[in-house]
Amino acid sequence: MPDTAPEGLEGLAYGGDYNPEQWPEDVWAEDVRLMREAGVTLVSIGIFSWALIEPEPGRYDFGRLDRIVALLHENGIRIDLGTPTVAPPAWFYRAHPEALPVSREGMRYAFGSRGAICHSSTAYRTAAAAVTEQLVRRYGSHPALALWHVHNEYGVPVSACYCENCAAHFRRWLTATYGNVEGVNEAWGTAFWGQHYGSVEEIEPPRATPTVCNPAHLLDYARFADATMRENFVRERDILHRLSPGIPVTTNFMTALSQCDSVDYWAWGREVDLVTNDHYLITDGRRTHVNLAMTADLTRSVAGGAPWLLLEHSTSGVSWQPRNPAKAPGQMARNSLAHVARGSDGAMFFQWRQSRRGAEKFHSSMLPHAGTDSRVWREVVRLGADLDSLAPVRGTRTVADAAMLWDWQSWWAQRLEWRPSEDHDARERADSFYEALYDRHLTLDFAHPEADLSAYPLVVVPALYLASEATGRNLRTYVENGGTLVVSYFSGIVDEHDAVHPGAYPGVLRDVLGLTVEEFSPLGEGERVRITAADGSELTGDVWSEFVVPRGAETVWTYADGLAAGQPAITRHRLGRGTAWYISTRLTPAALDTVLGAATEDAGLTPRTDLPRDVEVVRRSGESGEYVFVVNHTGTDTKVPLPGHGTELLTGERAAGRLALPGGAVRVVRLDS
Ligand code: GAL
Repeated sequence: MPDTAPEGLEGLAYGGDYNPEQWPEDVWAEDVRLMREAGVTLVSIGIFSWALIEPEPGRYDFGRLDRIVALLHENGIRIDLGTPTVAPPAWFYRAHPEALPVSREGMRYAFGSRGAICHSSTAYRTAAAAVTEQLVRRYGSHPALALWHVHNEYGVPVSACYCENCAAHFRRWLTATYGNVEGVNEAWGTAFWGQHYGSVEEIEPPRATPTVCNPAHLLDYARFADATMRENFVRERDILHRLSPGIPVTTNFMTALSQCDSVDYWAWGREVDLVTNDHYLITDGRRTHVNLAMTADLTRSVAGGAPWLLLEHSTSGVSWQPRNPAKAPGQMARNSLAHVARGSDGAMFFQWRQSRRGAEKFHSSMLPHAGTDSRVWREVVRLGADLDSLAPVRGTRTVADAAMLWDWQSWWAQRLEWRPSEDHDARERADSFYEALYDRHLTLDFAHPEADLSAYPLVVVPALYLASEATGRNLRTYVENGGTLVVSYFSGIVDEHDAVHPGAYPGVLRDVLGLTVEEFSPLGEGERVRITAADGSELTGDVWSEFVVPRGAETVWTYADGLAAGQPAITRHRLGRGTAWYISTRLTPAALDTVLGAATEDAGLTPRTDLPRDVEVVRRSGESGEYVFVVNHTGTDTKVPLPGHGTELLTGERAAGRLALPGGAVRVVRLDS
């Protein structure tokens, strides 16, 4: 069995992508000297090196890579070695132009960037396996090797290809999944709009159509494309496992949905030895540290709660957004340590030395164009020392208070066209629920809808449009056994083929919620509804309303205006030993906070009224001890009550009672046992 942690690292991983091939060799000595000065322990190399190590078909030249590997090893820096299969060389495409992917509109992409891959291409698969095998035969037992890094960010920049090769591969996938064409007709509901197929051979990828394409066809194509990328990952991984036993294999994920939404990471999490993730702050006016926390929680959950590794983030600005602000002083360390708090056993960056050429020359790095006499460099050196003091945290697990259900497949289904309202956005609901619970200082795990939820007093379901019957049974059992569930509108509606569950909405959730929904009644653009409770409290919703019929649930808030006036808006159903809440409109943040407040009370979660907004407290626990991470995202000094006494690891000071926390600072207290 391969290990799940980078081989040979004793503390937390620190470093970044290292692309020395972009520089003359005389720069390399300075690189490793500065890496040592910064406390770098691990670098990712070789990710884009295919054209250099195989300059022509079947001729390998490892000279440069040998020298880099040796230099890093001599300097005690460990290696996360990339298989270069995200960037096939120009010669490959000249010989196999069919390996370039085709868009839905039928445009074939060209060479000259990266990630232009048709994952069904046999030529690509053969060439990728061959270069991987050469690489692992050369370095598979090198003493500096800590981790294998397959490919780069599957699903980005091309999430699916629509070429003829993919069409043939898709037909094979359909036959394996459904047995025959009748199975496909049934699953896709092709009786509608005359889409019936007489044989699997008649089925094409869902290329651009004049109007809405069959939604089940689109959904299966998303599954097929994801599974095809995973097949290629597994093929490379198995070569690495066979020829480099014991060394863990990863591929860097992008669990932040805004950056990659075409990969079902629940399935991928089961295939990698170590979950690694790339996270970049998105500048869209929202609180970036909340999105960071959410992404880190989701990544940890994909890892089954085990430690994972932040393989890429940025020291300062990125280069691919419309506007790329620099990070504020101290923000880089705060971001890094917030990931560590939520389970990352290290903090790595894209990239070590800022590129002079190519598309990413304005992307920040550990060693910027400005050199070592710069704020970024000084912060990089400081962070290396901080991570070194946190070595004992390695291997411990983040402790969560509650869970949110998340399913990529439901998300794909929800984005399909012709829905009751284009204003409803599943991701927005997930973000809002997360943010409301973050502001209540609760740490969340994410869970697949069919996972065992019994460990959580509270489970929230912000938008789970696609839900299986097994999910319905799972949630019912969860509530009957004492759990508190909060479900938002437009959940439990369709099965895995986007077919409405038989009977009234919300299909598989009717029982657990104790209600039916007769009809959706989405609101006009900008329209709002008031909802009121018997105690006189009034909340506001927008986007959505619907006609709810309680069948066992009690009405807590009622629509005061709109088409549903006088009918239930928010209900509570006592079932077995638990409670299931239903929210039938899109609540404003303040209203959502009120309702989640009531639900957390039902769940017996004590509110943390002693912590200021934007001060994060997260716990990690394990064999080496109990750690309290405190992250101050505000500019104001504050004091944070501790659950015991201990030693603050970054300052070495004793800590007890109320811990002084300067504005912008992070503290990590190891509690005395
Ligand atoms: C990542 C990618 C890196 C680099 C980085 C820039 O998505 O893996 O190679 O491009 O973005 O932010």
